[in-house]
Amino acid sequence: MALVRLDKLIADSGLASRREAKDLIKKGKVRVDNFIAPNGEIKVDPDVSEIFINGEKIDYKCNRYIMMNKPNGVLSATEDAGQETVIDLLPESLRKQELFPVGRLDKDTTGLLLITNDGSFSHSIITPKRHVPKVYRAAVTGILDESDIRAFEEGITLSDGTKCMSAHLSIERPSVGLATVYEGKYHQVKRMFASRGKHVTALHRLSIGGLSLDEKLKPGEFRELTEEEINKIFE
Ligand code: URA
Repeated sequence: MALVRLDKLIADSGLASRREAKDLIKKGKVRVDNFIAPNGEIKVDPDVSEIFINGEKIDYKCNRYIMMNKPNGVLSATEDAGQETVIDLLPESLRKQELFPVGRLDKDTTGLLLITNDGSFSHSIITPKRHVPKVYRAAVTGILDESDIRAFEEGITLSDGTKCMSAHLSIERPSVGLATVYEGKYHQVKRMFASRGKHVTALHRLSIGGLSLDEKLKPGEFRELTEEEINKIFE
């Protein structure tokens, strides 16, 4: 992970305030690997270095923000008795950090999935109150037309009577649409198309807010988000 200031890292771990951390360092009580830390400004990588306070190793847990190109056939869940989950695709060092997917993509949906251990970050993306747009490319049976675009705009009513918020549909090819939705009801995009008499044959998420899937990521690959990318989500 990125380098972090030592005093911030200690404070983030919840063991001391920033001021107390600086104090501990000044008193020579903090060791980074085999060296007594000279000051709180030094930058350390907690994935690489071990940090000790009074000889005790600290268990540093920082917030993680990961983008994955979710592959087909994998569950958006933290664990499952029989099936592979997106968390299983991460290395052990990350799996230890209580990560979970932000919302769910269906097992057969591919594309941009965010994974984090920051509950409030996750909530602010999922809540319909924030109106964070999610864009999906959907291949469907049948031919899309202007009446589908209007129906999405007006707000689709699903087969069980649930009313969806206004959404945007643009037609990329006769049977391929780009759907932008601002909420995340169960199987929402598939059910919206179903209400128009179209069955979704493939669904791929392209973006969340201002953040697009990194096209360099192959299915199953992931990487950490930069701070700039995290902010972009809410732009
Ligand atoms: N809508 C769906 O129907 N499925 C998904 O995986 C995501 C949105």
